[in-house]
Amino acid sequence: MKSLSLINAAKFTSPNPLSLICSRTPSGETNLAAVSWWTYLSLKPEIIGFAMMKMSYTGEMVRANKRVVLTVPGESLAKQVMQCGCSTGRTKHKAKDFGIDLKDIPNSDIQIPVHSAIAIQCSLREYIEVGDHYFYICHVENVYGDEEERPLFAWNGYSSIAPAQEA
Ligand SMILES: Cc1cc2nc3c(=O)[nH]c(=O)nc-3n(C[C@H](O)[C@H](O)[C@H](O)COP(=O)(O)O)c2cc1C
Repeated sequence: MKSLSLINAAKFTSPNPLSLICSRTPSGETNLAAVSWWTYLSLKPEIIGFAMMKMSYTGEMVRANKRVVLTVPGESLAKQVMQCGCSTGRTKHKAKDFGIDLKDIPNSDIQIPVHSAIAIQCSLREYIEVGDHYFYICHVENVYGDEEERPLFAWNGYSSIAPAQEA
């Protein structure tokens, strides 16, 4: 075996999970951020987690509101996911600017992209500092799925977005 940087290990093991994290802004809009570093953590109780750079607008919104919806985008959103990962909600209204249609889900005031394969509605349990990121640990309130949508993954060190190939 040879020595690898962690970022190259992530490239080597791609495809990696991908999500569009939906958070509510003070004006009631949905902000969307691409996040690969998310994981299932516990089934009883149901808990998930995701890591975001300390400066992210999403993190600020989640810490303030204690609510978030983690979605897995469907195939038609590949281009927009990259756009959401290369801009911040501090200065952009991403859904509007990138043409992402949103819809309501039950019992949530955070809208999600219409073309979502999965939506995990969460409340924030706690967040911890992990180097240059915060890790957000979230209680799962509800999970919704649409089997018509093909989930997207991050490929080649997050440089391209595509569905996973069949084994
Ligand atoms: C495919 C992809 C995956 C990403 N994964 C993460 C991640 O896991 N954690 C993170 O902090 N940023 C990640 N980013 C970068 C954020 O999406 C980016 O910093 C974004 O500007 C944050 O938006 P916000 O400031 O509106 O929250 C990713 C970007 C792309 C394109």
